Amino acid sequence: MRRGMRAGVLILWTVLVAVSVISVADEPKELKDAFASRFRVGAAIGTHHTMGQEPESLALAASQFNAATPENLLKWQAVHPAPDRYQFEPADRFVAWGEQHGMFLVGHTLVWHSQTPRWVSQGTDQKPLDRDALLDRMKGHIETVVGRYRGRIQAWDVVNEAIDDQGRLRSAVPEGGSPRRFAPWYSPIGDDFIEMAFEFAHAADPNAELYYNDYNEWFPAKIEAISGLVRRLQSKNVRIDGIGLQGHWGLDYPKLDEIDHMLTEYGKLGVKLMVTELDITVLPSASNGTSADVNARATGGDRLDPYRDGLPDAVQRKLADRYAAIFGLFVKHANTIDRVTFWGVHDGHSWRNHFPVRGRTDYPLLFDRRLEPKSAFSAVVGTVRP
Ligand code: XIL
Repeated sequence: MRRGMRAGVLILWTVLVAVSVISVADEPKELKDAFASRFRVGAAIGTHHTMGQEPESLALAASQFNAATPENLLKWQAVHPAPDRYQFEPADRFVAWGEQHGMFLVGHTLVWHSQTPRWVSQGTDQKPLDRDALLDRMKGHIETVVGRYRGRIQAWDVVNEAIDDQGRLRSAVPEGGSPRRFAPWYSPIGDDFIEMAFEFAHAADPNAELYYNDYNEWFPAKIEAISGLVRRLQSKNVRIDGIGLQGHWGLDYPKLDEIDHMLTEYGKLGVKLMVTELDITVLPSASNGTSADVNARATGGDRLDPYRDGLPDAVQRKLADRYAAIFGLFVKHANTIDRVTFWGVHDGHSWRNHFPVRGRTDYPLLFDRRLEPKSAFSAVVGTVRP
């Protein structure tokens, strides 16, 4: 009897070992394969990557992802720094690299209030431009940039962050309030600046997919305003293919039911949903709340930068669990989600090390500073393990 029990335990143990060996061996090593039947998985590629620094990061990106977004090099100030000067070399290289690796390429971004030079909204006399002059400028920029990569960049974040946290269009001039910093670019055009940008982009590449992209996308006021915008464009037959949800999130925000709810709500619009800039900070939050406004700055000292020498196991596990829960929701909504893009390739490269507090050490992505997959990687892949 006792011998029988021992044999039973041994058999059980052998089976358990065999199962775990098989499941480790079976675990997909590449994100693009793991999610192939659900959605594309992409990454933001830094200009320095594209220009040949850190070739290992670029190689990692090529092996893991099937979609790519340039982190900065197609923003207005990078690609069109002066009225008569375009700088296409980094973007040309990015597109050639993407094509070489069969990537779905996303152009980011055409109309935004940030990383847009001041001259865009001014005449040679530095006076503010009027509606017609601004529309001409917007059209020229979009025609030139989108036209150059027609048929090669498959999709564009046409307008970025045009709606504030209260759900107001950023072109709206607050009554009695002081003009906002994007006012010179959007307000003289008026509330149809979004629609016009989409029309210009469509004319420049009739086959490109066109998206509206934003942050704090789960705020009820934003759900309402972004849904309203999409419906308005649809009713006017202006082409819009999808909504980009940036996804600069934290360990405790947004709540899972807020993510679930927003995916359900946006999913009703009949356009594609993309999570376009996913990263999850593990650091204590600074004073900017959940905003991803790139102009926000905060300071805080040691209390805000607790993991300079490495991430404690307990936090590493929290991050993995958080990623698993979030990807569980993405898989649940895979019928409307077309792509999930991480904002960066590895922790060392992430903008979250510098936003909104400069020079912190954050751990928001799936690959660590040595380009090794973290436990968050297995947790994410585990959400689709058969
Ligand atoms: C960030 C880049 O990652 C940084 O390198 C740059 O200094 C500022 O912009 N929302 C967006 C992205 O749409 O373009 C921003 O990217 C992050 C917030």
